[in-house]
Amino acid sequence: MIVLGIETSCDETSVAVIKNDLLTANLISSQHFHKNYGGVVPELSSRAHLQILNPLVKSALEKSSITLNEVDVIASTAGPGLIGALLVGLTYAKGLALSLSKKFVAVNHIEGHIFSGFLMDDKPEFPFLVLVVSGGHTLLLLVKSFTEIYKLGSTVDDAAGEAFDKVAKLLGLGYPGGPKIQKAADIGNPERIIFPVAELKESYNFSFSGLKTSVLRYVQQQGGIDKIDNQHIADIAAAFQFAVVRALIQKLKKALDNFDVNSVSIVGGVAANSLLKEKATELANKYKKKIVIPNLEFCGDNAAMIAFRAKTLFENGISHNLDYKPYPALDEHSFLSL
Ligand code: KG4
Ligand code: ZN
Repeated sequence: MIVLGIETSCDETSVAVIKNDLLTANLISSQHFHKNYGGVVPELSSRAHLQILNPLVKSALEKSSITLNEVDVIASTAGPGLIGALLVGLTYAKGLALSLSKKFVAVNHIEGHIFSGFLMDDKPEFPFLVLVVSGGHTLLLLVKSFTEIYKLGSTVDDAAGEAFDKVAKLLGLGYPGGPKIQKAADIGNPERIIFPVAELKESYNFSFSGLKTSVLRYVQQQGGIDKIDNQHIADIAAAFQFAVVRALIQKLKKALDNFDVNSVSIVGGVAANSLLKEKATELANKYKKKIVIPNLEFCGDNAAMIAFRAKTLFENGISHNLDYKPYPALDEHSFLSL
């Protein structure tokens, strides 16, 4: 079976091909120009997807040594994401499916991330705990099978990646914030400042907006960002990164104490963070659980995870009609029990 996957939910245009269980292409074109605006500009994102998608599909087919006619399933992210951006990939995929009489599968972007660990050689084993940490979402989930996903907790305000992006902006480090904070933190002292994180003790929920405000207050107390030297900025970045990772690890630990699982997986853009990887690996080793953190190319937004999720849905007898509409929020069209 050959699956063509398309991802255009935010600022990455990506096309992937899975051919008989083998990923033969995962092309990702990132819209770097958004950094000039300090964040993703939706209208510019849609236009850029429109320009690059067709050439990217052609390259992915060439790289996989196949023609469009050989594809069995055409899949696209349908949500959550930016509506205009989603419309580009979804409409393109539906158009192809219609003109070539192929099966069409609409994929939930978060479900794509949840199962992205399966793109690795060493895959998660059911049941597993997964921490989805991206720019738009922070979720802790118990995954029992490809169609049974239970939400344990989520953020009550900012997503982890969003907190990285906002604090990086505040520290004058630029966009996207995650990699910039990590780089600054590499030479910083995480113990110079202790930033508190709301614990929300009885639940598996997260809260990062208070942390963001603490960093803002701290910067203001120093007389503003212009009064802070580079080493001090690196120390703030390191302390902030430490606080986010501590909060994520605390809830993961609580879930490991309460659920009998075989594996732990950390996915989404923030899973690229080296401190989070290190602490999550330490924790999983302590509990003697297998840990799967996808490679960088599968952590951020990519079509390989969309093609893989589509394949699992199709194998479970699921495909979609061509009147399928894009959706902005997570709570629609998903296997998640919220
Ligand atoms: O999953 P993703 O590519 O897009 C969304 O679906 O949101 O995640 C992007 C997020 C951004 O907020 C970015 O700052 C964050 O992932 N990120 C990181 C790192 N690399 C990317 N956060 C922390 N450390 C990193 N190394
Ligand atoms: Zn994502």
